[in-house]
Amino acid sequence: MSTVTDDQVRDPVFTSPGTPAGRLMRSYWQPVLQSKDLAPATVQPLTVMSEQFTLYRGEDGIARVMAPRCAHRLTVLSVGTVEGSSLRCMFHGWKFGGDGRCVEAPGESDRLVARAAVRAYPTWEAHGLIFTYLGEGEPPPFPDLDGFSRRHGRDLTAAPTVETETYLRRCNFFTNVENGLDHAHVPFTHRLSADPTRTKTGFDPSAAHQEPIEVTREVTTIRVRERSGDSPYQATFLMPNALHLIVGIRSGVMEQFAWRVPIDDETHRSFAIVGRHVPRSPAPTHMVGGAEVDSDWLPADECAELILNGEKRLLDFVEHPHLVNIEDHVAQVGMGRLADRTNELLAESDKGVVQIRRMWRSQLDALVRDEPLNRKPW
Ligand code: FES
Ligand SMILES: [Fe+2]
Repeated sequence: MSTVTDDQVRDPVFTSPGTPAGRLMRSYWQPVLQSKDLAPATVQPLTVMSEQFTLYRGEDGIARVMAPRCAHRLTVLSVGTVEGSSLRCMFHGWKFGGDGRCVEAPGESDRLVARAAVRAYPTWEAHGLIFTYLGEGEPPPFPDLDGFSRRHGRDLTAAPTVETETYLRRCNFFTNVENGLDHAHVPFTHRLSADPTRTKTGFDPSAAHQEPIEVTREVTTIRVRERSGDSPYQATFLMPNALHLIVGIRSGVMEQFAWRVPIDDETHRSFAIVGRHVPRSPAPTHMVGGAEVDSDWLPADECAELILNGEKRLLDFVEHPHLVNIEDHVAQVGMGRLADRTNELLAESDKGVVQIRRMWRSQLDALVRDEPLNRKPW
């Protein structure tokens, strides 16, 4: 590990190939696209953790992730064409099967065909998301989301509506991971979206009221739960970059599993499976993320960037269907695309954040010592 700096060992934020945090993140299944965004017989480029890949769906309906470049003279496979379950390179027509092995190379010998291959990565589709495993060795079992929900949630399979949501956020993924257990931000960051009249500009002292919380930690999970309160609130961090959330919305309960997946060290995409145990409500009280393009509005990340640049204010977007997402984006990206944590002043309300950092630190320490990771299913 001689190329790894001390900062990279200490800090979970750097996930490019070869970094400790990158190895850790690659040791788990990661979502990379909503299923509905990959039609059969289509192919597209994919960037995850500063690394390029090819993502395609065969005519057999199976989504596959492969190396970015052809084994021949290395042009990108994302401009190729899907044939059955295979992908044909656009440059000289070599064709690769779903396992990455070359099955045809026009004009070339069988011996050459037998030698040529590109790396293929395991994939899994669940609840409308495409997941892939980008690590070394065998992937861990895919987490039993429905079982987890039955044990710790509201039985996702019984929700009247279960949808996927995704958004782009222009900061490091770990800022959003930490935000999952930052319970204290909710009444402040989301005071506008929580206010049905949407007119508050200043801080309302009554919003400062925080319900008492309890924090519980297990091997690979950390839970923050309100001890009381009018509506349920329970956020569970799931190692290494996922969150299970149960929160009251205007007419019932929303449950979600969300993953914050790095595109590179300064940008990430969130993917969520969202169950609403109510008829779909357009105006949740708080904490609902959201798809990024709706009606005539700019995507949430672009609105947030205008606010951060000083060209707009949150009040300009009070009608935006994803105001909650804009609020979080402004607060999180406001910390910097790569937040500098060295000068923070952590407080009592940061208990959950501190626990996440400790869990990550102990896993990174184990990984750097070449000890086996504890990938205990949630
Ligand atoms: S580069 Fe792909 S077939 Fe030649
Ligand atoms: Fe938030």
